[in-house]
Amino acid sequence: MRAVMFHRYGPPEVLTQVDLPKPEPRGDQVQIRMHATTVTSAECGMRRGEPRWGRVILGLTRPRAGVRVLGLEFAGEITATGPEVRKYRTGDRVFGFTGFAAGADAEYKCLSEKASFTTIPDHVPYSDAAATVDGYTTAWHFLHGIARLRPGQKVLVIGASGMIGTYAVQVAGRVGATVHAVCSGRNAKLAEELGADRVFDYTTEEFTASGERYDVVFDTVARSSFARCRPVLAPRGSYLPTTGLINNALHLRTALTRGPRVRTGMSVRKHAALADLRDLLDRGELRIVVDRTYPLSEIVAAHRHVDTGHKVGSVVITVP
Ligand SMILES: NC(=O)c1ccc[n+]([C@@H]2O[C@H](COP(=O)([O-])OP(=O)(O)OC[C@H]3O[C@@H](n4cnc5c(N)ncnc54)[C@H](OP(=O)(O)O)[C@@H]3O)[C@@H](O)[C@H]2O)c1
Repeated sequence: MRAVMFHRYGPPEVLTQVDLPKPEPRGDQVQIRMHATTVTSAECGMRRGEPRWGRVILGLTRPRAGVRVLGLEFAGEITATGPEVRKYRTGDRVFGFTGFAAGADAEYKCLSEKASFTTIPDHVPYSDAAATVDGYTTAWHFLHGIARLRPGQKVLVIGASGMIGTYAVQVAGRVGATVHAVCSGRNAKLAEELGADRVFDYTTEEFTASGERYDVVFDTVARSSFARCRPVLAPRGSYLPTTGLINNALHLRTALTRGPRVRTGMSVRKHAALADLRDLLDRGELRIVVDRTYPLSEIVAAHRHVDTGHKVGSVVITVP
């Protein structure tokens, strides 16, 4: 089967097209014929070996064998099942998250039926389904799972035009929160269309000088800090960063204080959020923002685009 691999950390050009043996499902595994995957900022970081501390998991000097095929989000069709599979059948259309072993940048991938995936509603195309997975489920994990957002609360989403941000604005709006957004002027209209009640253009405005107070500040793109956001947080407000080693330390420290808290985490097990996402897709109630689509053969160009840090929503890869 065709796949894309990387054997050393570096720029997009470290990715090479290769032929690998087709994996066969064992035990409770299903074999999925990939139809679509994406390139996320998180996996571009994996490709670069950044942040450095991440290499403890990925491989100290080079990516270890189990992570050399990237691709975290996927949509495809089940083409074979192991003898212990109970939930799925050959022909089922499914979408989900591979976990940090990745592997969706390939024609086939085997996953346990217990992994984070579910069926795709009939009318939803593979490319749309793949584009929703990590953004929606991460936004859900932070706003529902960690912050326990309630109707009437006020939320600021930093990076509202990114993969997580486009869904964070929608998730918060569906809860009944007031949503303010931070993005550049060229994406302000998009943020409004997604449901933002007020938009700060970070190229011309400083959201910390607005006089607003938020119950939740959700920095989806790691462009702020707790110190900078503290003045706009309510006395018991939460600052939710998706990344940053320092934020793990602040998470522990602020848990012991009475003031605003830093609350971070990893969205890994995604079953509950995926069930909710499937429901919304079925009802056609989610806006899916896809910036560009590339075939698997042009994945280097896709990585170059994501590396700019200015993609809008998701970058989809089709696996013809
Ligand atoms: N904790 C978890 O479970 C988890 C899960 C997934 C991802 N992550 C992490 O989340 C981060 C990426 O999130 P993502 O994939 O949503 O990002 P993304 O899609 O790559 O974000 C790109 C967007 O960021 C905007 N942006 C750039 N600079 C900005 C600024 N100063 N202020 C506001 N917006 C700005 C850009 O808009 P303009 O072009 O208009 O500037 C662009 O639309 C990564 O660090 C990743 O590792 C964490």
